[in-house]
Amino acid sequence: MKLLKYIEALKNKIDKAQHEIKDAPLPQQRLRDQTPFPSKQAPLYLEVGCGVGLHPILFAKKRPQAHLIACERTSDKFHKFKKRLENHQLENITAIHEDGMRWLTHWAKESKLTFEKIFFLYPNPYPKNNQRNKRFFAMPLFKNYLHTLKLGGEIEMRTNQLFYLEEAKILATEVWNLECQYCGPLREESEKGITHFERKYLKREETCYELILKKTSSTF
Ligand SMILES: C[S@@+](CC[C@H](N)C(=O)[O-])C[C@H]1O[C@@H](n2cnc3c(N)ncnc32)[C@H](O)[C@@H]1O
Repeated sequence: MKLLKYIEALKNKIDKAQHEIKDAPLPQQRLRDQTPFPSKQAPLYLEVGCGVGLHPILFAKKRPQAHLIACERTSDKFHKFKKRLENHQLENITAIHEDGMRWLTHWAKESKLTFEKIFFLYPNPYPKNNQRNKRFFAMPLFKNYLHTLKLGGEIEMRTNQLFYLEEAKILATEVWNLECQYCGPLREESEKGITHFERKYLKREETCYELILKKTSSTF
């Protein structure tokens, strides 16, 4: 489907899916990870799909006043992340072994308008055309992530796929009413990379891209 047509279909699905937003939490037993929602004393950040956790650790060290909830749904990656965490004395990371959407749906009340920033770093691009609805910005339920973002909060997405960057920017601005603050090649402070995937791509001398979005309206 052409992107313009997809945008119209997506907008339609969001309207129809309005009733699907549940404020009531899922029954606790349906969550694999029973970690409670962290206290809101520190500014809260969310990372969805943190892999083996390099970025959460770098972030938590750099921002001791902030608290990062880092979700990873794949077991082997999550266990490597947990192992790595044991070697660091970091109180400001909550590691969640769960699908980010599922976890937030459970904690809908607690997470509403809560996050300063959400990170999607090197998400699987699902490159086939018929997989578009699995890409974060192309999912009708992406609105559930937006519900958790504070007004004025940011989303940071990184990818090595130009098509993914361009599509995400269009969907973010046209469908999700987010303001684009930056869209282009990494303006990275460290040439080494902040995630394992980023390090792999930079080592291969591939271009990595960054999309910074701001929530400036309360539509979602
Ligand atoms: C391509 S890897 C990138 C990992 C890491 N961000 C990096 O850059 O090194 C994408 C990761 O996101 C995880 N993932 C994808 N969707 C997710 C979701 N909805 N919730 C939690 N994890 C997710 C996958 O299991 C996978 O480990």
